Amino acid sequence: MENAYTAMRSAAEAAIAYRRDTASAETNPVATYADIFAAFDAPLPETGGDPQAIIADLIARATPGIRAQTSPRFFGWVIGNSHPTGVAADWLAAAWGQNAANVSAAPAASAVEAVAARWLLELLGLPAEASVGVVTGATVANFVCLAAARSAVLARAGWDVEADGLFGAPPVTVLIGADAHATVYSGLKYLGLGAKRVKEIATDDLGRMRPAAFEAALKAASGPIIAIAQSGQICTGASDPFTEIAPLARDAGAWLHVDGAFGLWAQAAPARAAQTAGVELADSWATDGHKWLQTPYDCGFAIVRDAEAHARAMAVSASYLPPADTGERDPSTYVPELSRRARGFATWAMIRQLGREGVAEMVERDCRVAAHMGETLAREPGITLVAPILLNQFMVRFGDDDATTLKVIAQIQQDAVLYAGSAAWRGQTVMRASVCSVATTMADADISVAAILSAWRRVRG
Ligand SMILES: Cc1ncc(COP(=O)(O)O)c(C=O)c1O
Repeated sequence: MENAYTAMRSAAEAAIAYRRDTASAETNPVATYADIFAAFDAPLPETGGDPQAIIADLIARATPGIRAQTSPRFFGWVIGNSHPTGVAADWLAAAWGQNAANVSAAPAASAVEAVAARWLLELLGLPAEASVGVVTGATVANFVCLAAARSAVLARAGWDVEADGLFGAPPVTVLIGADAHATVYSGLKYLGLGAKRVKEIATDDLGRMRPAAFEAALKAASGPIIAIAQSGQICTGASDPFTEIAPLARDAGAWLHVDGAFGLWAQAAPARAAQTAGVELADSWATDGHKWLQTPYDCGFAIVRDAEAHARAMAVSASYLPPADTGERDPSTYVPELSRRARGFATWAMIRQLGREGVAEMVERDCRVAAHMGETLAREPGITLVAPILLNQFMVRFGDDDATTLKVIAQIQQDAVLYAGSAAWRGQTVMRASVCSVATTMADADISVAAILSAWRRVRG
């Protein structure tokens, strides 16, 4: 065993060294999948190995293919910083080997998760009575919330979907903004609600649902209705107009779910909270810890106002699983898994690390960095800001041309001073950047702008 403990120490040291190197570094060019596959490709080991050699090999062979997602100038997808405090808590979760399914198996993990869940609701300005499932990410959080929605709207129609499934159930109308995230459709697919049977609601230039179109769709619907809104459109960062659509949903008896993977965190930043005004009127909310709370992967939250519907959709019982006593909270009641990582430790640690003020400051700073970068770039001839910057995401186009835009993005990625990727918006190719890290500063914004301008000028010639 001593050898294995030494291997744990060397893993920790390598991890710390890596984080020191990427704390201010360029986003290293990475080895390809093929390179790394070749480095690992070997016959199935017939016999066991030495812990130190195994960990040393893992570090040496994997490191060239590690993308510097924790770099302060990593603006791809929507990526948090995996803050070292959260990582340290996560190391303990793994080392303690807790199966955080229920109170009897894991009292500390269950209790810490319960406290973190309460803090989270307060931080996000959501109803204190809501239940929170701590899941792997927003994809699963959307699925869990929609399972609760399905349960509640069908129960109101006299149907027990948990017992009888969807065979012969009253049809459910699903309304969804036309610019919803792809993973919401995944949730609908898993739930037998059909990714293609939804009614898409027309959106405006920034991807926000048009309230009049939503109202008309509600009027046209009959029977149980689930309406899906979002906070933080993946390209524009825009949130749906909740103060207008939430009362419409309520009056129609619809369940209103909000995919707020990152945008819901505007709630925690007073200067940005106007973006999400009225979001607390919804029935359920999906969000991520590994985005704007900066926890390590994997961490997301399924938040449901009707805790009973949430538990009905997810809870599991078996004779060998002792139920929680009154006043205790079994984590597995609100998630699709039984055996699970103790994600509450990293959630608790990161809320303590940042505090209410730290979260507000980070969200506000990331938004200012995004605005500064987008607006500075747009002053350069040939670079267009594709949409006004509302939150932490921005899009630019180079030479008003798809191929040129892709060439500039490729040059930026090759230069590796920052990372940004491409996306399609309203039929055009854009460079899309997301600022979602506690590590990013205005100095990073200026370094990044200079690198982007340099790439553009070289491509333009
Ligand atoms: C709006 C939105 N919804 C859902 C997701 C999926 O989240 P995850 O990848 O954490 O499952 C994302 C991811 O970026 C997102 O931006």
